[in-house]
Amino acid sequence: MKVGIPREVDPLERRVAAVPQSIRKLRDMGFEILVERSAGQGAEFTDDQYTEVGATIVNDTAIWSESDLIIKVKPPTPDEVAMMQEGTCIVSFIQPADNTELLEALAAKKATVIGMDCVPRITRAQKMDALSAMAGVAGYRAVIEAAHAYPRYFAGQMTAAGRVDPAKILIIGGGVAGLAALGTARGLGAIVRAFDTRLAVKEQVESLGGEFLELDFEESGEGEGGYAKVMSDAFLEAEMALFAQQAIDVDIIITTAIIPGREAPTLITAGMVESMKEGSVIVDVAAEKGGNCALTVANEKIVHHGVTVIGYTDLVSRMSILSSRLYASTLIKMIEEMGGAEDFTIDRENDVVRGALVMEQGEITWPPPRVEEVKPPPYAKDYGSRPMPDSEADEAAAREAAATGGMWKALGLIGAILLALVIGFWAPMSFVEHFTVFVLACFIGWQVVWNVSPALHTPLMSVTNAISGIIILGGMLHLSTTATTAAIVFGAFAVFFATINISGGFLVTRRMLAMFRK
Ligand code: NAI
Repeated sequence: MKVGIPREVDPLERRVAAVPQSIRKLRDMGFEILVERSAGQGAEFTDDQYTEVGATIVNDTAIWSESDLIIKVKPPTPDEVAMMQEGTCIVSFIQPADNTELLEALAAKKATVIGMDCVPRITRAQKMDALSAMAGVAGYRAVIEAAHAYPRYFAGQMTAAGRVDPAKILIIGGGVAGLAALGTARGLGAIVRAFDTRLAVKEQVESLGGEFLELDFEESGEGEGGYAKVMSDAFLEAEMALFAQQAIDVDIIITTAIIPGREAPTLITAGMVESMKEGSVIVDVAAEKGGNCALTVANEKIVHHGVTVIGYTDLVSRMSILSSRLYASTLIKMIEEMGGAEDFTIDRENDVVRGALVMEQGEITWPPPRVEEVKPPPYAKDYGSRPMPDSEADEAAAREAAATGGMWKALGLIGAILLALVIGFWAPMSFVEHFTVFVLACFIGWQVVWNVSPALHTPLMSVTNAISGIIILGGMLHLSTTATTAAIVFGAFAVFFATINISGGFLVTRRMLAMFRK
């Protein structure tokens, strides 16, 4: 089976669908590989690098007329479709909603089309999620472009010549591109605020060190499958009032707000741009979809009232070596999913392939059928954290297990009451005092550990290490001064367990710190 890698014809597109490493993988899968002359030039890969790993360099006519499978970045142009042989399979970005004419032309050629922009956003398909891989690069590059145009530092600095305040950045849209921009801007030392219509984004923004801006407005932005939905006019108005306030205060705005399959909403008006400080910068990552800023001009950098508005649609291509490598890797995973050269098939039972399948032998198959959500049975809450049963027999077993669990809980409660009565009647006063402290300590410890946000677990661990230190000292005191066997045994237990806690705490902290070391 022959796979062809054409040179991208769009002058702004510098990515290529295969890099030398991915050519090796295609060869190992059993493909014969044709690469168009100078296909890798925009990403600085030479023809020689491709031939060294087993590809044959050919011209464009040969690529389109001889390949059984074409992998590329941008949707094919009418000229390319005209050169294509009947029945070819194409794997590339397609944007089927915006490209009806292209789909008709491809259908006439009985093509099979896999849209890399249609890969479903499910866990199993993450390694094939080309859109997310590219959006991550776009978000990073947006910050770099902003830093280039911004005439001051990002991080605050105290210099002999005076204090420099950190830059304040507002990010609109906390999807893949927005979060990548947030992480990059925080890394450069800026103060970052972010807004998204989906509240689910709040935790991610905060975990990256940003401040999540919220509206006092009851409307969820969650659409189907975790994607954003179109918001009401009243919500958009409230959101824009927030941006108008922010525009006066921040130095840089990065906009990434989109709803799949639609034009980007206009969220930054000309008036807001004019209210920004001189030297401020707006990077409109959504420029390709019409832009979130009213003044954005696609592929241009304009200056309006001293504010630079950047509308580049080739942010990813500006890092073509990296983005080609990432895109090529998602393509390889997709081709593996389709069986490689030996067992190449379009398996409609495969949820990833079916989700991305736009056309099969000329028959348009997009959009894919909706995957019905599996509704839990009405008594699902009885299962607690146990997995849901598959069959009726399993259901009966699960109900029995739930009943047994309830019985044990009741027995435990009765046991605890009896123990409290025994202690109350027979234990000496000194024991009751210590026991009260012990029970209160257990209760407070439990509440603290479960109610502290995960972000604060590391400082909490340091505090518990300090408490364990106090416990060790107390235990050692008992071991050295008390005569009763019970006190010695308890003292030994205290020293033993507190030592485990301290050394374990240090080990876990070291492992966590190692994750952040480069
Ligand atoms: P995404 O779908 O993951 O994120 C978009 C986010 O915008 C979502 O979190 C959504 O909730 C939010 N949003 C929608 N409406 C909003 C509103 N009214 N206010 C605030 N937030 C709103 O998309 P992703 O992958 O992050 O891409 C973002 C943008 O980057 C897109 O416009 C995409 O076309 C663009 N992009 C541009 C590239 C380039 O080279 N210029 C390359 C890759 C992506």
